[in-house]
Amino acid sequence: MDAIQVGLGERSYPIYIASHTLNRLGSICLEHKLGRKAAVVTNPTIGAHYLQPVEESLVSAGFSVCRIEIPDGEIYKNSETLNFIYDKLIDGGLDRGSFIVALGGGVIGDMAGYAAATYLRGIPFVQVPTTLLAQVDSSVGGKTGINHPLGKNLIGAFYQPKLVLMDLTVLDTLSDRQYISGLAEMAKYGIVLDAQFFHFMEANADKLLHRDKACLQQATKTACLLKASVVERDEREGGLRAVLNYGHTIGHAVETLTDYRQFLHGEAVAIGMAQAAQISEEMGFSSPECTKSICCLLAALQLPTNLPPFKTDQYLAAIFHDKKMKDGGLSFVFNKDIGNFAIDKVKDVSRLLKVCGVGD
Ligand code: NAD
Ligand code: GLY
Repeated sequence: MDAIQVGLGERSYPIYIASHTLNRLGSICLEHKLGRKAAVVTNPTIGAHYLQPVEESLVSAGFSVCRIEIPDGEIYKNSETLNFIYDKLIDGGLDRGSFIVALGGGVIGDMAGYAAATYLRGIPFVQVPTTLLAQVDSSVGGKTGINHPLGKNLIGAFYQPKLVLMDLTVLDTLSDRQYISGLAEMAKYGIVLDAQFFHFMEANADKLLHRDKACLQQATKTACLLKASVVERDEREGGLRAVLNYGHTIGHAVETLTDYRQFLHGEAVAIGMAQAAQISEEMGFSSPECTKSICCLLAALQLPTNLPPFKTDQYLAAIFHDKKMKDGGLSFVFNKDIGNFAIDKVKDVSRLLKVCGVGD
């Protein structure tokens, strides 16, 4: 089992990565001296596969378990579901010595994490991510939250888990589409942070697509190490952490304009990264060869790269609604060739869109 440490002083925690490890959750929680009572937050889709081994592992390690099942879907990542979680925590008698286990993808992780951050002014929580996206991105770094009717992830807190347990075998039940969507966030780390990892992904695209466990173990570990190194230096996104938003400005606009129905998050990010690569080249940060390599890797991973045909005004409206707008300027992440990045304020956003072929 690989163990990576996220070094954040007294908020430091390990990420354990291996296959067939769900049944070790209880003993690991015991080692980490977590309280006697655990609330496992999950949904019926994930619960059908993994609730039993998780509960059995916790119970056999001596924990008592309160089960909290919420409906499956991003549309339930809201205050109503959060209140339902609070109700269950209160009913179940969870106290300050108790902890929450988030068993699921990014939706469960974000919501259970925010419940943990706020219930009784904060109780410990453990991330057990079950999607690739959650394993390489959302379960690490402490961003938790829910959506608001006026926008995604508008309510939240930075709140770090006590540990993250990644079992790569749980990915076997994930649909191809969800799995491939997670590969987009993995590719992001290579493009902006680590050229060697980018080339590893290029060389192993086929193995990654086929969920080869040895390859996945190495790739997930590298992705988590890269994310940890960013979070350690900028936990609350004062500057550097914004690099993790590479491809997300246009990606979020694509999600908004298609009403979150046409693309999964990773798919939209892949489209955003292909456009960001083109923009980076146009702005002199990168070469045509790098743009080509980035688009080829995304295509090899069977991710989309073409921008849906909305007009400049529509893209501008979607981008300007985004959280990344600060003081009237757009903070945009460029790739500097491959493996490096620059973050710059952009005043003329329509010029960026023109580079991507967006017109009136
Ligand atoms: P998700 O949590 O909705 O999971 C996708 C689907 O897969 C769901 O239907 C889920 O029930 C199912 N599923 C999960 N694990 C499964 C498994 N092992 N087998 C079978 N089915 C399984 O989606 P996601 O892509 O994991 O997460 C998206 C969410 O993550 C968004 O809400 C996004 O805002 C958030 N996010 C957060 C961060 C962060 O840093 N906190 C980063 C990126 C994304
Ligand atoms: N997913 C972006 C971040 O964690 O900052």
